[in-house]
Amino acid sequence: MGKVYVFDHPLIQHKLTYIRDISTGTKEFRELVDEVASLMAFEITRDLPLQEVEVETPVEVAKSKVLAGKKLGIIPILRAGLGMVDGILKLIPAAKVGHIGLYRDPETLQPVEYYVKLPSDVEERDFIVVDPMLATGGSAVEAINSLKKRGAKNIKFMCLIAAPEGVDAIKEAHPEIDIYIAALDEKLNDHGYIVPGLGDAGDRLFGTK
Ligand code: URA
Repeated sequence: MGKVYVFDHPLIQHKLTYIRDISTGTKEFRELVDEVASLMAFEITRDLPLQEVEVETPVEVAKSKVLAGKKLGIIPILRAGLGMVDGILKLIPAAKVGHIGLYRDPETLQPVEYYVKLPSDVEERDFIVVDPMLATGGSAVEAINSLKKRGAKNIKFMCLIAAPEGVDAIKEAHPEIDIYIAALDEKLNDHGYIVPGLGDAGDRLFGTK
């Protein structure tokens, strides 16, 4: 059974306040999302396996540890997920990056894939799917479906702000998935925005409207 982790680290919470603030402009918003993504990556990689090696220090040969080389993949959901990629890569620069693009079918209102490009060794990698906002959960559920369909076995989901509806949707469709969030907000409004949220993450990241 997957778990939901809410990162209540003071640095994450502090930066998230300014990310939410309507008066924060595009440049600062982008920088803050990048920083929070790094901080979250630090927490999310806590369980990466280590292996022991010998290292020659100026004093003597010591036993020490390095990452055991687990293969990781970051999967931003287009387009807002892109804003979190560089922050994660700062901590795990060898990770590969795949992309999943989804649009909402105007009739069924269901997310439909329009672009999927993944590392070739999907079955051997652990994936972190990233999207700043987990609203209804439709895109996250579909992105995880998409990865599983192509052979991914180990998937985590990471976002800045989640609505309870989105968390429930992932839990129902993919009960084994761990979900990492910086804040669990109150609800969705009638337009599908998270309340209080931060508005449209893609528009705020890219300066569009
Ligand atoms: N996507 C966003 O960018 N913001 C929301 O509040 C919900 C979905």
